[in-house]
Amino acid sequence: MNMDRSHTEELYRAVALNNDEHARLRPILASIESAQGLEALVPLLKELHQALMRHFAGEQFPDGLFDVIEQVNPEHANSLRELEGEHSFFMHKVRDLIFHARTPGENNPEELLNGAQELVRKFRVHEERENTVVAQILETD
Ligand SMILES: [Fe+2]
Ligand SMILES: [Fe+2]
Repeated sequence: MNMDRSHTEELYRAVALNNDEHARLRPILASIESAQGLEALVPLLKELHQALMRHFAGEQFPDGLFDVIEQVNPEHANSLRELEGEHSFFMHKVRDLIFHARTPGENNPEELLNGAQELVRKFRVHEERENTVVAQILETD
């Protein structure tokens, strides 16, 4: 890693915070995956929406994890912009699912439960990609 001590400390702190958040998201995701009906699904989606707003802010807002990574290794800028784009997609998708689940005539339970499960799968891939970027940064020495 080609960085000074304060950068290193900043990076490790940001990575540790991010790992904690990823861990806190996991039970919400698992509950969404196993939800059996819209009554169970909607509150979980609301909880996920709140948690993701905080999580994405920590990753992409000024001086968040992505900024810290980019300072250390600007080569990751494109991957980080792609990940930010996915954040917008996830926020939109969660709101969309909640909206449809609460709208009479549009709340086909099977469709919405499948949509929520697909969202969880895509989100896990997203988190994997983030972990890969972080691992690359930490391994580059
Ligand atoms: Fe992310
Ligand atoms: Fe993340």
